[in-house]
Amino acid sequence: MRSELSGFLTELSWPRPQAPAFDAGAAPADPVVLFERWLREAVAAGVPAAHVMTLATVDVAGRPDARVTMLEDVDEHAFWVAASETSPKGKQLGRVPVAALVFHWAQQGRQVRVRGSVRPAEEARTAAAFERLSAHARTEALVDRQSRPLHDEAWLSDALGDAGELLRLEEPGAVSAPSWRLWGVDAGRMEFFQADLEGHHVRLRYSRHEGRGWETELLRP
Ligand SMILES: Cc1cc2nc3c(=O)[nH]c(=O)nc-3n(C[C@H](O)[C@H](O)[C@H](O)COP(=O)(O)O)c2cc1C
Repeated sequence: MRSELSGFLTELSWPRPQAPAFDAGAAPADPVVLFERWLREAVAAGVPAAHVMTLATVDVAGRPDARVTMLEDVDEHAFWVAASETSPKGKQLGRVPVAALVFHWAQQGRQVRVRGSVRPAEEARTAAAFERLSAHARTEALVDRQSRPLHDEAWLSDALGDAGELLRLEEPGAVSAPSWRLWGVDAGRMEFFQADLEGHHVRLRYSRHEGRGWETELLRP
């Protein structure tokens, strides 16, 4: 019989010891600017793995899926993530090109949500990002087969060895992983949640409208 967790969970507090004040009225017009500020503040405040987020996708049957991944880059309005085209998330991103991202910086009581349409990066951008990966990550990407059942560990060990050897022998930039690519989530909506120690939480939503740019509104938390 399973143990009852509800009592244990009730005891857990919501940690927000460094919850900063957030003046939504003074927030920048561009939410990407605010995102970058909050990300840098999270790192400065010692939030571990502040660039790690939840990436939510949808499959062709409309079923949601989510997993933790790293943020590879952010520009104008796209948040860039890396995913193998053959992995479940890669197939979902390719076939149902919409996604949501969630960043949670617990120490500061902050959450950022991003929703938008998805597009694959151009080859050059993917190639440049691939070169920035660690040798280990490039080796893993070359072998790929992410999320497949692990039946043959000897085969995998050989494949990783061969891939590592190939990367060592070739010039930088000469080897690419055919299934590994960057995907851009074009933010159409972003939301910033700032928890407050007294419970006066602030929730600011940005919505992008064609021709009018970003509009903001406060939401009841
Ligand atoms: C801290 C952390 C960071 C991760 N970063 C990535 C990442 O950047 N890219 C990735 O493909 N998987 C990453 N993963 C693994 C994913 O959560 C997931 O297990 C994997 O991508 C397979 O997902 P899928 O089956 O939905 O395709 C990370 C996991 C953790 C715990």
